[in-house]
Amino acid sequence: MPHQALARQRLLIKGGKVVNDDLSVVADVYVEDGVVQQVGLNLNPEPPTGLTVLDATNKLVIPGGIDTHTHMQLPFMGSRSKDDFYTGTKAAISGGTTMIIDFAIPQKGCSLIDAFDTWRSWADPKVCCDYALHVAVTWWSNKVKEEMKSLVQNKGVNSFKMFMAYKDLYMVNDEELFAAFSCCKELGAVAQVHAENGELIAQGAKKMLAMGITGPEGHELCRPEEVEAEATQRAITIANAVNCPLFVVHVMSKSAARVISNARREGKVVYGEPIAASLGTDGTHYWNKDWAHAAAYVMGPPLRPDPSTPGFLMNLLANDDLSVTGTDNCTFDICQKALGKDDFTKIPNGVNGVEDRMSVIWEKGVLLEELLHWVCACQLLICVFSQRKQATDKKCFSNYSGKMDENRFVAVTSTNAAKIFNLYPKKGRIAVGSDADIVIWDPKATRTISAKTHHQANNFNIFEGMVCHGVPVVTVSRGKVVYEGGAFNVTAGEGKYVSRPPFPPYVYKRVRQREQVCQPIPVKRAPYTGAVSGTPVAP
Ligand code: URP
Ligand code: ZN
Ligand code: ZN
Ligand code: ZN
Repeated sequence: MPHQALARQRLLIKGGKVVNDDLSVVADVYVEDGVVQQVGLNLNPEPPTGLTVLDATNKLVIPGGIDTHTHMQLPFMGSRSKDDFYTGTKAAISGGTTMIIDFAIPQKGCSLIDAFDTWRSWADPKVCCDYALHVAVTWWSNKVKEEMKSLVQNKGVNSFKMFMAYKDLYMVNDEELFAAFSCCKELGAVAQVHAENGELIAQGAKKMLAMGITGPEGHELCRPEEVEAEATQRAITIANAVNCPLFVVHVMSKSAARVISNARREGKVVYGEPIAASLGTDGTHYWNKDWAHAAAYVMGPPLRPDPSTPGFLMNLLANDDLSVTGTDNCTFDICQKALGKDDFTKIPNGVNGVEDRMSVIWEKGVLLEELLHWVCACQLLICVFSQRKQATDKKCFSNYSGKMDENRFVAVTSTNAAKIFNLYPKKGRIAVGSDADIVIWDPKATRTISAKTHHQANNFNIFEGMVCHGVPVVTVSRGKVVYEGGAFNVTAGEGKYVSRPPFPPYVYKRVRQREQVCQPIPVKRAPYTGAVSGTPVAP
């Protein structure tokens, strides 16, 4: 039953296991006016009247998910993504996500501040949960630099996305990347990149079309893994040259993930964001005989046809080689996708994920349920005893779950995002003083993902038929129960825009330290006093 308006101000969540990224404890959580007031055993807040009590016995009580990457109602490739800020945030809530970070994207030559204001005007009246905005830098000039400063100082923006792909639309070149990264560093912002080599994609697409490959498989074939890996390496190199922290959005391939992992091992300040799609499904769908099915998976960078990719990315996410998860939720229905029925380059890029991210990651990454471990173990034993080839096949093992514990799950679905984008500990943690964005998570319940039952606006779901163990039974946004047992209690516009201050300590303390310690210094030597021949070149 949805809770009544008056009762929303005070909330007690009883008897659950409170899970943060570093610790799990059985405790009650008491919330007043949207903020956590107490976490402890056997809380009995007074007076008892007007108090909403939720029983979380045998359930986990986790910080609401933060989806670091969505595109609600994005005008893109001749269409507009189907989920708007209302349906998109409603779907998020039903999946246990209580905050999204979307992108304001100006056209080349246009004002970043105007784009930001436009996105705010779209989102503010519609959002059902909290949100923030990254802003894209799609061109470069002094005006862009000034506007970035103003966005950071006056509008609560602390992250900017640069596209290395979408030639002639959003793509910036290396010189522009250098300038934008330098500016981010100066302002205390996090630079983000869509890492794909846009020139190679343009050439590859021409080649595929000339070969008569017009279907969705052409989308992957014209931009193989190395196109993503090369751009990832280049972005890391440029960012490192200016000591700017870098966040690589939508990591889709093993090769790109390896590049990020290596850079982290070299001590570079870089974070990788795999998404629900890259962790939960793969690019074999592009070869499906049904055009509409294949087209539904088209996104950039593409999903990879190597079916061991999701398991590999999940391993890296578990090991902290990759840091955060988003979705790149940018939904187009089949009719919109059909804009590219004769030419894959015209298929609007984007897939769903905002509703299913938490469950997909739990299913593929955690899956604690004892019984399921027995099932896994039995399947492995059958593999081994029957000496089936798969038993020694890496895929057989790498695609099994059990890679993360509940704490790492919280880290990669909310806490790390809150730390990187300077929302922590208001978001991403259940502690006294934190916003009461809380999910009661039932690790034993199951649900089957389907477009027939999801809350998203499009008519296709890339995870169709996936049975997920791990279900959000209650979602609380700023202390209000907004979703409970399948029923919503939301009003469009009640989510809030969340300002993010610059210089997130989690990121910038390291940057500052290397600024102080790692500066090159000139070698002290006596001046050269010998003969000089030739004509000095003018500077
Ligand atoms: O396919 C995608 N990713 N669509 C949204 C735009 C972007 O590149 O993030
Ligand atoms: Zn992108
Ligand atoms: Zn995106
Ligand atoms: Zn298992």
